[in-house]
Amino acid sequence: MGKLGGKIAVVTGGSMGMGLVTAKLFAREGAQVIVTGRDQASIEAAAREIGNGAEGIRSDISKLADLDALRDHIRERYGRLDILFANAGGARPRLFEEVADEDFDHTVDINFKGTFFTVQKLISLMGPGGSIILNTSIQGVRGTPGMSVYSATKAALRSLARSLTAEYGSKGIRTNALAPGYIDTGVMLRTGFTDEQIDAMTTQATLHTPLGRMGTSEEIAKTALFFASDASEFITGVELTVDGGWAQI
Ligand SMILES: NC(=O)c1ccc[n+]([C@@H]2O[C@H](COP(=O)([O-])OP(=O)(O)OC[C@H]3O[C@@H](n4cnc5c(N)ncnc54)[C@H](OP(=O)(O)O)[C@@H]3O)[C@@H](O)[C@H]2O)c1
Repeated sequence: MGKLGGKIAVVTGGSMGMGLVTAKLFAREGAQVIVTGRDQASIEAAAREIGNGAEGIRSDISKLADLDALRDHIRERYGRLDILFANAGGARPRLFEEVADEDFDHTVDINFKGTFFTVQKLISLMGPGGSIILNTSIQGVRGTPGMSVYSATKAALRSLARSLTAEYGSKGIRTNALAPGYIDTGVMLRTGFTDEQIDAMTTQATLHTPLGRMGTSEEIAKTALFFASDASEFITGVELTVDGGWAQI
């Protein structure tokens, strides 16, 4: 039996990037995994790639009706939820004066409001031993040009981990934040940065990272497994950075 044998786990944004790699690790460790994303074809392909009976459900975290349907499906099919990796998120980099109303709402709707209501809907299926992991970012404690809205949403999630710990600790449900540094998931290409911008950011990130390189999705997955498993059973309310030391110096 693996470290997550018999557990039911949801990974939002599990169709690619660090969500997909984490879902694979959770499944290898014995969890029944449910992955979500907005694109039907990608989420079905991800479920096939994860194997081990993983299920892919099309669900947009910024739509409350989708979250209601996800909760109802999990309740009917599995009866409960043990692990939630609230991972789905994204950035729309804009210099401060160029952030339009719609850019602001888009990023807040996904990263903060979407994650907030993902937890609110799914926590009703959790009981003692439950583990919630919020994917934040070291940008939540840093200032970076073009990232004002994104960084604020991630700081808000870090705050949410504290509030959930205060409200749900007595029910045996733990909530922790996992703050990645610069992780090589291919997201920069998909976010619309040019090759030159990506090269510049990679050079900067490498220079500022004491361990001298970008992180990998596997390193995020191993940390999520730590929070999901009994290895962290007396740890709640913390934010753990996985950034090669970047935000610590
Ligand atoms: N990569 C980094 O360096 C880094 C650093 C710090 C923090 N993070 C955080 O880590 C998380 C994952 O990043 P990543 O690099 O793995 O990103 P990614 O490769 O772009 O994957 C994002 C995943 O989220 C899904 N998604 C996006 N919006 C969604 C929505 N509204 N509802 C449901 N699913 C949605 C995407 O699928 P669809 O598009 O099909 O919906 C995809 O499966 C994000 O929260 C990000 O902010 C990343």
